[in-house]
Amino acid sequence: MTDNDQTEAEELRREPPELDPEMLARREAALRHVRKFGDPVLKSRAAEVETFDDGLRAEVERMGLLMEDAVGVGLAANQVGLLRRFFVYRVDEDGPLEALVNPVIDWESDQEETFEEGCLSLPQVVVEVTRPAQIRVSAQDRFGEPIELEVEGLEARVIQHELDHLNGVLIIDRTTRGQRREAMRTLRDLESGF
Ligand code: NI
Repeated sequence: MTDNDQTEAEELRREPPELDPEMLARREAALRHVRKFGDPVLKSRAAEVETFDDGLRAEVERMGLLMEDAVGVGLAANQVGLLRRFFVYRVDEDGPLEALVNPVIDWESDQEETFEEGCLSLPQVVVEVTRPAQIRVSAQDRFGEPIELEVEGLEARVIQHELDHLNGVLIIDRTTRGQRREAMRTLRDLESGF
């Protein structure tokens, strides 16, 4: 990996070494609200959103705050126990909270990229995932208005990661057999309190 690749991979995980104790405590508290590996909701396909009401928008805001506290760059509805097709993300720390509802990938580039990814639902797991470098996505915003996006780099990666969640797919389903085995060991050790 080049230096540049490494930076991007770190961003996706966004595990800043400089988290102060207060931020760490907030992160811990937020992570308790995120469903973890083993929860069947993470292996389930979420259903289309049909109603764009205040409830949906409140949920988007709530998930945005949770994601921020958890120091993540994306959070899918499945991860908070809602089987509905939407997710939030923010790739630019100072950028707005983005929310995509009923997202569909219309096109993906033949060119692929491999980067390390982490996931708030898989504590301490980091695996390499290969994905198309560039995608076109159509979705709706939180008011039901159509959105068309053509994205690359980190944004394309985050969107594909979160869209996978809506289909019950996790990063360990998309990595090499060896890395998957290693990840399963990490998760088992965590569960048994090592
Ligand atoms: Ni994830």
